[in-house]
Amino acid sequence: MKSIEILRTEYLTKIKEASSDAELEEVRILAMGKKGEITLKLRQLGQMDLQQRKDIAPLLNALKNEINQAIANKREALVEEELDAQIRKEWLDITLPGRSRRIGSIHPVNQTIDQAVAIFSAMGFSYAEGPQIETDWHNFDALNMPPEHPARQEHDTFFIKPKDTDNGQPNVLRTHTSPVQIRSMTENGVPIRVIAPGRVYRCDYDQTHTPMFHQIEGLAIDTDLTMANLKWVLEEFCRAFFEIDNVELRFRASHFPFTEPSAEVDIKCSWGDGQLKIGEGNDWLEILGCGMVHPNVLNASGVDLDKYQGFAFGMGLDRIAMLKYGIPDLRAFFESDIRWLRHYGFSPVDTPALHSGLSL
Ligand code: PHE
Repeated sequence: MKSIEILRTEYLTKIKEASSDAELEEVRILAMGKKGEITLKLRQLGQMDLQQRKDIAPLLNALKNEINQAIANKREALVEEELDAQIRKEWLDITLPGRSRRIGSIHPVNQTIDQAVAIFSAMGFSYAEGPQIETDWHNFDALNMPPEHPARQEHDTFFIKPKDTDNGQPNVLRTHTSPVQIRSMTENGVPIRVIAPGRVYRCDYDQTHTPMFHQIEGLAIDTDLTMANLKWVLEEFCRAFFEIDNVELRFRASHFPFTEPSAEVDIKCSWGDGQLKIGEGNDWLEILGCGMVHPNVLNASGVDLDKYQGFAFGMGLDRIAMLKYGIPDLRAFFESDIRWLRHYGFSPVDTPALHSGLSL
């Protein structure tokens, strides 16, 4: 039988050397378990005579307490060590700069709409929307294109079957955003300043045309507006949008049934190596149609012709997005190729605003 002193040294050493909770538990069972060495020793007390028991019991109890205490201390130390190790392993330098993670991306057309809205709202234009499935009347008649008007043919219209044959049922996919002019004036009256971005549809398909594309309509009606105001608004818009001071615009006399006089506006650009660049070169790209709103349009919208006059414009949003970001082919805009979107898309947190600069 080992002496108390030997047991003490042996177990204190084993406890000290235990390197995990499991090992420590083994040591505890060896000493204090049902058949543990110290337990057996304590049990033997019963067989001793009184004097012997009186001598040995306090020593054995002291040993038991000491070993129990040592185990408890060691257990606590192990827990702490484990925590230390874990903290060391999971160490994180929170002073490092963040790694940006892209959560989807904003399509260049949406980015362009947001930018255009930011610029025009700073000029006092409010935002309007109209339906994409439009009535014949809003899309044509009210815009001074009665049924036999030759301009209707140029619109390559997609017709749809109305729900019933009653007049006034929507029956075309709008070919331009101009019907929103009519809706805005009839709903809100004049004076008015609105912009209306959105999808439009024409049966056409090549490098610069797709059956669905985007326009932004502008309309300003007041008592004192002239062509000069129109030119200023458009030039100011282009300067802000392209973020270039020397944007050159060319106003060409043109014809639209819903404006008189009318003009088409081209922007100076270069087309070198399949790359479209703005603010340089000798090419012109048409980006919008505009003019003074035709009296028949004002009439159809219930506006007092003696008092009010104004201008309107319709701009190709995809065109100006192509120009600004040097995107050569319009068709790619609508092919939903994720690689294209990753390349040309924008961060969802990059919200355009004039005060912070349009492009961050
Ligand atoms: N709606 C015309 C188009 O789609 C553009 C335009 C709008 C022209 C407003 C003049 C005034 O071509």
